[in-house]
Amino acid sequence: MINSYFIKRLVLNNYRSYEKLRIDTNLSKNIIITGENGAGKTNILEAISMLSQSGPFRKAKLSQLGKTNANISVFTISSQIESDDDVFNLGLSYNYTDKQNISDDDDIVEKRQIIANDDNITVGDLQNYIRVIWITPFMDRLFSEATGERRKFLDNLISNFYPFYGVSLNQYSNLLKQRAKVLKSHNVDEKWLDAIESEIVEKGVSIAALRIEFEEKLNNILKTSDNVFPKIQIHIDGAIEEKLKTLKSVEVEDFYKKSLLDNRELFKFTFSPPVEGVHRSDFSAINLDKNMPADQTSTGEQKLAVISIILAYANMLYLYFNKYPLILIDEAPAHLDEIKTLELFKELEKLPTQVWMTGILRSDFEFFENKSSLFIEIENSQIK
Ligand SMILES: Nc1ncnc2c1ncn2[C@@H]1O[C@H](COP(=O)(O)OP(=O)(O)OP(=O)(O)O)[C@@H](O)[C@H]1O
Ligand SMILES: [Mg+2]
Repeated sequence: MINSYFIKRLVLNNYRSYEKLRIDTNLSKNIIITGENGAGKTNILEAISMLSQSGPFRKAKLSQLGKTNANISVFTISSQIESDDDVFNLGLSYNYTDKQNISDDDDIVEKRQIIANDDNITVGDLQNYIRVIWITPFMDRLFSEATGERRKFLDNLISNFYPFYGVSLNQYSNLLKQRAKVLKSHNVDEKWLDAIESEIVEKGVSIAALRIEFEEKLNNILKTSDNVFPKIQIHIDGAIEEKLKTLKSVEVEDFYKKSLLDNRELFKFTFSPPVEGVHRSDFSAINLDKNMPADQTSTGEQKLAVISIILAYANMLYLYFNKYPLILIDEAPAHLDEIKTLELFKELEKLPTQVWMTGILRSDFEFFENKSSLFIEIENSQIK
């Protein structure tokens, strides 16, 4: 029985640089994609990330993912996946006709159409079918970069863990947007605002509570990690989360409500005054081996910290759900010395789940030769 997810077949149509691409993995455990810069390696991993709730793993609008100058402006990603004793089809499509020049201000809700076997499902349903986690070059300096990427990283982990977390988060951010729109219009209905702010507070506090619970669970696993990667402890930094650790929920709700109320006033003087809430929370990490905040460590050490977290998290999912996630590692060997690269590969080999990796040279992945591996070398756009 497979306690994880193995992609048997992946088919892309009009996705990014691919007019058509089909990969049959024969259920290989390791899929290693190599080739020169711009060959289309990341595009393949990104397509897989689209099958999960938090994809795509690079910031992009759905309309940018469709192949430019394609005959038909619809992209599709289809897969056949084996999990437990089940084999199922999971696919999505998006019609990007006339949508490539949409500006950020256009208020258009972009939606993937997702089909599992023959049923239409929502983004929120996806984690019933597959859980995907990833390490990408955008995380190379995760701890010293701006907050956004870090929060996305954490939210992705949490939403793969708690059903509805991702959905709550979306609802929360939509409520905030609606509120800001009304406040900017200066056509304010106080009753409507009271109601929407109550909802924001309720959702916000529940999001904060899940984050705190997650922090504790992950730290417990990180504490007992048995590998050569650095010992890491994470900490969620957010005003609401901090308060929730020491105060009663009702007290935190009152604080949250009051800060939203005070913020209303500021809209009279400023166009978009920042408002306190879980959307502004961040997280940090300590490298316990060095007794140093992770943001003060080197680029390679930050990648090692991310690896520690991802490996612990994979074990955490198994502990709670009896399932390992599918793992994507874009530019796996980048920033790692030879020994650390080998250690990473050994740890990945121990996890009974499918791992998709990219790199420039096949020779960097020698460890996986003669194992259950599929090597895909993309040369001069030949398989596009
Ligand atoms: N919507 C699109 N339509 C057509 N081509 C696209 C689209 N989006 C991206 N591309 C092209 O896809 C190509 C491959 O990108 P990708 O990021 O997968 O390369 P890569 O193999 O990962 O390269 P690197 O080694 O530099 O990371 C790029 O040349 C890019 O211009
Ligand atoms: Mg790439």
